[in-house]
Amino acid sequence: MNVLVTGGAGYIGSICVEQLLEAGHQVFVFDNLSEGHRGAVDPRAVFVQGCLSDPARIQEAIRESRAEAIVHFAAFALVGESMTDPGKYFLNNVGNGTKLLMAAVAGGVRKFVFSSTCATYGFPDRMPMTEDLPQKPINPYGESKLMFERVLEWFEKLHGLEFVAFRYFNAAGATAKYGEHHKIETHLIPNVLKVALEQKPQVDIFGTDYPTPDGTCIRDYIHIVDLAEAHILALAPGKRGFFNLGNGDGYSVRQVVQMCEKVTGRKLPVVEKPRRPGDPPRLVAAADKARRELGWKPRLPGLEEIVASAWEWHRRHPLGYTE
Ligand code: UFG
Repeated sequence: MNVLVTGGAGYIGSICVEQLLEAGHQVFVFDNLSEGHRGAVDPRAVFVQGCLSDPARIQEAIRESRAEAIVHFAAFALVGESMTDPGKYFLNNVGNGTKLLMAAVAGGVRKFVFSSTCATYGFPDRMPMTEDLPQKPINPYGESKLMFERVLEWFEKLHGLEFVAFRYFNAAGATAKYGEHHKIETHLIPNVLKVALEQKPQVDIFGTDYPTPDGTCIRDYIHIVDLAEAHILALAPGKRGFFNLGNGDGYSVRQVVQMCEKVTGRKLPVVEKPRRPGDPPRLVAAADKARRELGWKPRLPGLEEIVASAWEWHRRHPLGYTE
């Protein structure tokens, strides 16, 4: 298929582009490089530098790519920033996303795949988390993603635009070529690996008094290649709806740090810090729906292989992308 990938120069987008190309699709990347990196775009893809706030540029990209499907990653994704600058999140993640949807409908695009998040659930009532749990986001980031899920439902109902929305749990890991390089890094695994590379003095553990076995937060880490695979499966006609993407295994912050020590062979100094506001104690996915309806099966579910792939990439790219 001809697939237009917004945010294809970002962490998850760039690896999805690589995997779409491996699967034989024609890929066009639309990215304004505000967070992404030109060097993260697979050279086999056509790159268009543009901003979702510019409808003419989006329409042109859809026309020129003859896009049959759009995979939409481009969004702001810093939970903390969304608490201080909510307008930025609603304007871009909802407003500009809606401009993209309008252009998709006008351009005859048949399928829309959206990267949503488990942050739409807020503090979940049950564990593991199924898609039918109440969605009560606790920050504007999660709210903006939930609002866009609702917009998608209306566009499907009123315009017939078939969509799949994936609620990611904790995306992690890398491929041989592409990995995680955020301008502001807030995520656990890359921050721990920076300590192993001696780019940071210590691992900060945010909160050791949670109601979990070792007192630190539990998350469900999912390999980025498995995440990408789900997007490819979602392109098949008739696949639609909301899906959690996670392994169903929870690891605490301390367990992740221990795994990073094992994989890197280095002892990592740890400092216990207060809780980070807005962190739920435990987020673990039930992703049975994706397995059942999409035929999705994570191929790299182990935390060790996830961390090892991230470490390999960070070791080879200690400064991340240089362009
Ligand atoms: N953490 C640390 N030290 C760090 C970084 C993180 O202790 O240096 C902790 C966090 O407090 C949290 C856990 O490690 O308990 C995981 O934190 P991440 O920032 O790696 O991931 P989150 O679970 O906070 O965030 C992920 C996605 C978000 C999404 C969120 C939903 O990255 O986009 O899940 O809760 F919104």
